[in-house]
Order: sequence, then C-alpha cells, then structure tokens
Amino acid sequence: MPVDFNRPLPVGREQEYVLQALQSGHISGDGPFTKKCHTWLQETLDVPQVLLTTSCTHALEMSALLLNIQPGDEIIFPDFTFVSTVNAFVLRGAIPKFVDIRPDTLNLDESLLANRISPRTRAIVPVHYAGVACEMDAIMDFATAHGAAVVEDNAHGLLGRYKGRYLGTFGALAAQSFHETKNFSCGEGGALIVNDPALKDRAEIIREKGTNRSRFFRGQVDKYTWVDVGSSYLPSDILAAYLYGQFEQRERIQSQRRSTWDTYAAALGEWAARNGVSLPTVPAHCEHPYHMFYMLLPDLDVRTRFIAHLRSRGVYAVFHYLPLHLSDMGRRFGGRPGDCPVTEKVSDQLVRLPLHNLLTGAEQEEVIEAVLDFPF
Ligand SMILES: Cc1ncc(COP(=O)(O)O)c(C=O)c1O
Repeated sequence: MPVDFNRPLPVGREQEYVLQALQSGHISGDGPFTKKCHTWLQETLDVPQVLLTTSCTHALEMSALLLNIQPGDEIIFPDFTFVSTVNAFVLRGAIPKFVDIRPDTLNLDESLLANRISPRTRAIVPVHYAGVACEMDAIMDFATAHGAAVVEDNAHGLLGRYKGRYLGTFGALAAQSFHETKNFSCGEGGALIVNDPALKDRAEIIREKGTNRSRFFRGQVDKYTWVDVGSSYLPSDILAAYLYGQFEQRERIQSQRRSTWDTYAAALGEWAARNGVSLPTVPAHCEHPYHMFYMLLPDLDVRTRFIAHLRSRGVYAVFHYLPLHLSDMGRRFGGRPGDCPVTEKVSDQLVRLPLHNLLTGAEQEEVIEAVLDFPF
C-alpha cells in the first residue's frame, strides 16, 4: 500500500453529525453546527468574532473588502506563499509588494519591511509558514508605526502560538483554512477571525451578500435589506457539521501529528546533518501545530531525484510554493529574478513528507527507511 501524502478521512463523529445536519432541515449556512464551530473557535482562541467561510481564500477576500482596499493601494506579502494570499487583495486593484523570507523559518523577513513600505501601503499580510509564527512583535510594531493594518494568513497555523499567544489573534483580521490538507478540515472551508471589534458588524454584512440578514435572524431588525457591498461567503451547515466533528478530536489529531513530526525529526536529524539537508527551525518562543514536516535538500536536482526515489518506494512526498514574483502575474507587477533570493532558492529545495491525521507508525517507518536509503 502506498503511503499517501494526505488522507482526509473522518477521525471522530463527522459522519454522524453530517447526517444530523441533513435531517435537521437546516442545511444552508449559519445553522446549529456553524454556531458550534463559531463558539469552539471563539472560546479556544479567546477572540471577539469568528465567521466560518467557504475557504481561506474567501476569508482573505473578505479582509480586503473590510479594509476598503482600493485600486493602487499597496500591500506587503511574503514572496513564498499561496496565490490566494495575494490574489484576494489584487482582486480589489491592490499592488503587491513582495518581501523575501527568512532562511530559518521561511516566514516574511521582518528586517526587509522597511524596503517595501511607502505612503500607499495599506496592509501587511504575514503568513505563518507551516504554522511556525512570524516575528509578530516586530511586524505589529512596524505596521502600527506606518498606519498599516495586519491581516494574518493563518491557513497553516490554527493552535500555533507566538510567545504563548495563539496565531490568528494579532492582526486586525486573520484567515484560517479548513481545506482537506489542513489539521482540521471539512474538504473546503475557512474562517475569518475578527480581532478589531470595529470591523465586527460589517464582517457579518459582507459575508451575507451585503445585507443585514444576520441582524434580522437575531431579531435586531424587523426586515433585512441591502446595506453594503458583499458576497456569499458562508458555508452550508453540512460542512460545518463535518468540521465540528474534527474540532471535537482536537487532542487526538494534535497528538497524532505531534508524534509523527517528532518521530521524523528524531529519526532524520543525524542523516540530515550528514547530507547537507535542513530540517524545520522552530524558535524557542514559537509552538507550532505540527501542520507540516518539510526538509530543504541541497538543490533542485537532488530534490527531483529524492521525490522520484520516494515514489518508487510508494511514498508520496511533494514540493510547495513557487516564487510569486516570478509567476506570470508576479512579473506583470514588475517581479524579476534575484528580487527575492531566499525564496528563489528555497522553493527549489523544499520537500514535504507525508503527515496526516491517520498516518500509522508502520507508515512512518516506511517513510523514514525510504528517506535513509536515498542515494545522494
Ligand atoms: C498560506 C495559504 N493561504 C491561503 C490558502 C488558501 O486556502 P483555501 O484552500 O482554504 O482557500 C492556502 C492553501 O493551502 C495557503 O497555503
């Protein structure tokens, strides 16, 4: 049997809850399971408001609408991220300014922010890569000093912490992903975390097609109407039912992933040091949620052979982001080779090992053996 990179199967009562949602007569958004998910996230993270969305991409799009991003506004992003981080703002006419990443955590290099700031900068969007925190003290101080909002792209980082505080609780807004590759998933899904209370009411309106329907359902107005721009960003309660079943398994999911991650790190440390391979760096003040186990191989040629070697042993490993400034869209915004040298190098070197909620001990051993057998 091959060792899958990811295996998104139920781990708790997901199927029972989906059936309950189907039988409840409430399968549109904001039903009983959505409310349970909101409460779970709000209480766990201790934040004023969480709204489930249809994806992290949509939570980021909502952020751009909430911040009234206008054509010509500049937004600072790490170069090493998923397209949605940037696209959500470019859709509103924003101009992306890419910052290179730190060679240790692969997060936005806060020491380079000063090179990208301008009077047109409206926001900074740090991405906590693999759920290891960006240097949030420096980023928040810099953003405050320059009047820029911070939107955390926390797609990987639910339950990760920086200096003891949960990721997703620093910026005015933060976006979560519940795509099937994430620790907690419902296939496709996300959430917007609203930390700035001044944005709460409008967040509900934007998510509900620009109407005040949420206030109507709470009995705060006697009819609902069109009050602002918006779109349809709320997921069906069937998806929320699946997601709540996953949240209930927090301890199991996190301890399983932690054990896999620790097993890989312990078994591969010496091999990595001997062969010029880097394992993930987790600074002492960061707790990560065991979302991803990646390695940096010496170069693209070795990585290509490494992935093929693992595949020949039935082990599915994958690479990750390409430098955004060198994509077709990135070049249209002026990106040139050499602009972000760390991203350009790392994107050729990085490989992710299988890590999911159901990976067995025997499968972990297969992965480790295949890695140790790689002929450099
Ligand atoms: C950093 C980052 N942001 C955003 C997304 C988009 O997430 P979604 O598929 O939930 O829209 C991803 C996807 O994995 C991601 O890696």
